[in-house]
Amino acid sequence: MSEECEGDITSRVREIRRQYEGEFDPKEYHATYYHTLDEEVKFFLKCYHDAFNTESLLTGRSPRQRRLLEFGCGPVPVYAAAAAYYTASLTMCEILPKNREELQAWMEGGEEALDWTPFFTYLASLMPPRNGEEVAERLRDVFQLVLPCDLTQREPLSPIRQK
Ligand SMILES: C[S@@+](CC[C@H](N)C(=O)[O-])C[C@H]1O[C@@H](n2cnc3c(N)ncnc32)[C@H](O)[C@@H]1O
Repeated sequence: MSEECEGDITSRVREIRRQYEGEFDPKEYHATYYHTLDEEVKFFLKCYHDAFNTESLLTGRSPRQRRLLEFGCGPVPVYAAAAAYYTASLTMCEILPKNREELQAWMEGGEEALDWTPFFTYLASLMPPRNGEEVAERLRDVFQLVLPCDLTQREPLSPIRQK
């Protein structure tokens, strides 16, 4: 890629980051895109579920050896939940402190936490006889932490290094 093109992309990504920092509200995001289980999210969840269960590139290692990182998770635990039975350990990362706080609040079962119940119920329907509460609990079990990240940096997870 030419330096000019690379510089162009970098400045666009930085502009997007500024917009997120200035305007993104996790509660509004939830109310707009996740107030109900729509066909689009259903499609994504089914694709993730199928990939984690049947894609040979992903299922090659033993589950105990698997670790997963979700990058740019926002305040949303539902895609990670699609992987909860696939991995022994799950780390998430997100640039905005308010999104990390929302996610952490849900992981800790806080009363004010956003409600994602319909998504866990749907995922559970793909893995009978599990129910939605079990899927949510499994996610909390494998979840390690939610880290700050910034993909505009040379080391997006810097200064934290994972072993
Ligand atoms: C469209 S949201 C997607 C959130 C969630 N993964 C979902 O699918 O609903 C994009 C996410 O990327 C994050 N983001 C924006 N700029 C970023 C950057 N430079 N580095 C890392 N994450 C960034 C935003 O804060 C936001 O949570």
